[in-house]
Amino acid sequence: MRKLLRVLATGVLAACCAFAAAGTWAADAPLSDAEVSARAKALVAKMTPAEKAGQLTQFFYFGEAMGPLGKDPRMRKQLEDGVAEGNVGSLVLVYEPALANRMQRTALQSRMKIPLIMGLDVIHGLRTIFPVPLAMAASWDPALAERAQSVAASEARAVGIHWAFAPMSDISRDPRWGRVVEGSGEDPYLASKMVAAQVRGFQGPHIGAPGHILSGPKHFAGYGASIGGRDFDEAEISDHELWNTYLPPFKAAVDAGAGNIMAAYMSLNGVPAAGNRWLLTQVLRETWGFKGFVVSDNSAVRSLARQGVAADDKGSAERALAAGLDMSMGLPPYDKPVMGTLPQSLQDKHITAAELDRAVQRILETKIRLGLFEDPFVDEAKAESVLNDPAHHTEARIAAERSAVLLKNEGSLLPLDRAKITSLAVIGPLADSQRDVLGSWVFPFNKPHADSILAGLRAKLGTAVRIDYSEGVRMPPRLYPSPLSALEPRLPARAPLDETAEIARAAGFAQRADATVLVLGEAQDMSGESASRDSFELPGRQQELLDAVVATGKPVIVLLMSARPLNLHDTKARAVLDLWYPGSEGATAAANLLFGDATPGGKLPFTWVRSAAQVPMTYSRIPSHSAGGWDRRYWNGPNTPTYLFGHGLSYTTFAYSGLIVGQPAYKVAEPVTVNVELKNTGARAGDEVAQLYIRQRTGVSSRPVRLLKGFQRVALQPGETRRLTFTLTADDLRYWSAETRAWVQDASVFDVWVGGSSAANLAGSFEVKRR
Ligand code: NOJ
Repeated sequence: MRKLLRVLATGVLAACCAFAAAGTWAADAPLSDAEVSARAKALVAKMTPAEKAGQLTQFFYFGEAMGPLGKDPRMRKQLEDGVAEGNVGSLVLVYEPALANRMQRTALQSRMKIPLIMGLDVIHGLRTIFPVPLAMAASWDPALAERAQSVAASEARAVGIHWAFAPMSDISRDPRWGRVVEGSGEDPYLASKMVAAQVRGFQGPHIGAPGHILSGPKHFAGYGASIGGRDFDEAEISDHELWNTYLPPFKAAVDAGAGNIMAAYMSLNGVPAAGNRWLLTQVLRETWGFKGFVVSDNSAVRSLARQGVAADDKGSAERALAAGLDMSMGLPPYDKPVMGTLPQSLQDKHITAAELDRAVQRILETKIRLGLFEDPFVDEAKAESVLNDPAHHTEARIAAERSAVLLKNEGSLLPLDRAKITSLAVIGPLADSQRDVLGSWVFPFNKPHADSILAGLRAKLGTAVRIDYSEGVRMPPRLYPSPLSALEPRLPARAPLDETAEIARAAGFAQRADATVLVLGEAQDMSGESASRDSFELPGRQQELLDAVVATGKPVIVLLMSARPLNLHDTKARAVLDLWYPGSEGATAAANLLFGDATPGGKLPFTWVRSAAQVPMTYSRIPSHSAGGWDRRYWNGPNTPTYLFGHGLSYTTFAYSGLIVGQPAYKVAEPVTVNVELKNTGARAGDEVAQLYIRQRTGVSSRPVRLLKGFQRVALQPGETRRLTFTLTADDLRYWSAETRAWVQDASVFDVWVGGSSAANLAGSFEVKRR
């Protein structure tokens, strides 16, 4: 039990399930701010300090489906009693409509009759699973991400969940960090667009819109920079990196209207985020104007004592409240909520009544906006029809197809020609896995389903094509098992595999097949929370398998599943297609992509380094004093990445021409327009992601050699040409300077490039002049 509690303290459990019923209780039209504020104020005025502390308390609910923790009915009873007494304002992990309704009825027994707000990690779907967020970023298609999270929201809401702890808005430049999978990669511009789209997808036109839920971007802020890529460790980020790289996606989330923010649990520059007044008040509220409420990450308020900024629970709660944190997410013991110490703090005059009321007000305002006071219940009979809506699967398939990245395709091996393929070898430890296709933050209680890649190919090819399957080698288990594995069903033990013999058998299959599809990568539990790794080698003997299959000299396609750059050692396999963890419809999407019924158009949202030793490496480095040699910094080997940020091929080809900047010179803050012509020069229809990069030549700070400042995903028929217009706003051209310690927009000449990756070479320039 203690161990599981620890597991949960890592925050792990949150993404659970859902079956049943669609809710209809959301307000159709938003109330005015004044109305919301007045209603909340009237409630606060009637509450006791203990009831107020209750609203600031969120607990995990451990239902019977939650393993050993869920088996303790006494603990559940204690929680339910707390809810009935008004000591709890929110629950995590309530995943069934009937349970959600029961808990709401219990909450309504309390003196103030304030409904609960139910939160969950709805990261990339609930029942219908979309590609992992990193994959969605690889689609460079914010509208797609918006639709996906809108589908996820409808499924969540259908089971009584009102709030997603998403999107993860952390920039990650160290793919050793396991949670890279949950974010949008290394670039603040791309991430900001993807994050804002997700917030809109979750929340819809306004907080409380029917079929939508509250969005809680996380982990504010800097979690992606956990030192050494080690999950939970502290982040050390310079002011310049914070403002220019790590904070922009959060600002974009706030601007998109996110109603909640989750404070991270690690220390940022020595100050734990949950007790960080600068972050939670000065930046978030005073600078950005955030109006929603802030929740802690799991147990992060209580942890303030462990992190050495408070002596005990009481000190931790005081510190968090003073910093601007409103709600504490926490674990049992249920009779000792950390925020439950605040009434005593009030008596001791360690906090003011105004501070306490302010936090309660923010939470009640959100509950009012969500329409919970009008109807906290969910329609238990409707849920399954929402969860099994076939339209959701269509969206999931489109998303899986659009997020795949074709890394390599020598001699146009792909797409395979169905008319010419009579036999296929399908090989690899991930080829026949259903679970891995779904990725992390997916739990059995949600009843998600995916076919394996092998099954997807069989379904597509029928009996016309002979398929020989070999797992080749086994995925080795983690040295330290994932805490999340406690939630996975126990699989029957498998007979041991003689990998040496199986590699030989697999190579034999490849030898006699027209083509081989090798499905390699990392198991889904090798990325995610508590899933950092110090190596980007293929786990186990997969490289040996790859080399043996490639040595046959027959055409080999590698399908990769992973959420970090893997080192394939310059494999001679002719094609490499990254599927990430593609979700419920990943198998169909993979088969469509392999046989040309879909064309890859995704691009890398991060720099694909060769090895963990190259980390961190970003395309947007600051120029050095040394004119050359940046590609020779390490004397012992390649300094360049395997694939550049923004790289991704198609089954067709594209040409860029005619870059025209609207005017040669602009005044500071005037929008700049850049036009280019993009032509599909190949014989197939396909999508290209046109990317615009700038470089500011001079300024008070040294600016990066390139910075992404625009992109458009465009579908073109063979021979079709499209004129694209990009507009650079004042926001795109300003930056935070450590010299002036402020935002600046310098007068300078800017170089601009447009193309299909961060190596775009169609160039132009413009000048920005002082008024
Ligand atoms: C901890 C994780 O860091 C966070 O992302 C998650 O939302 C919470 N636990 C709840 O599961």
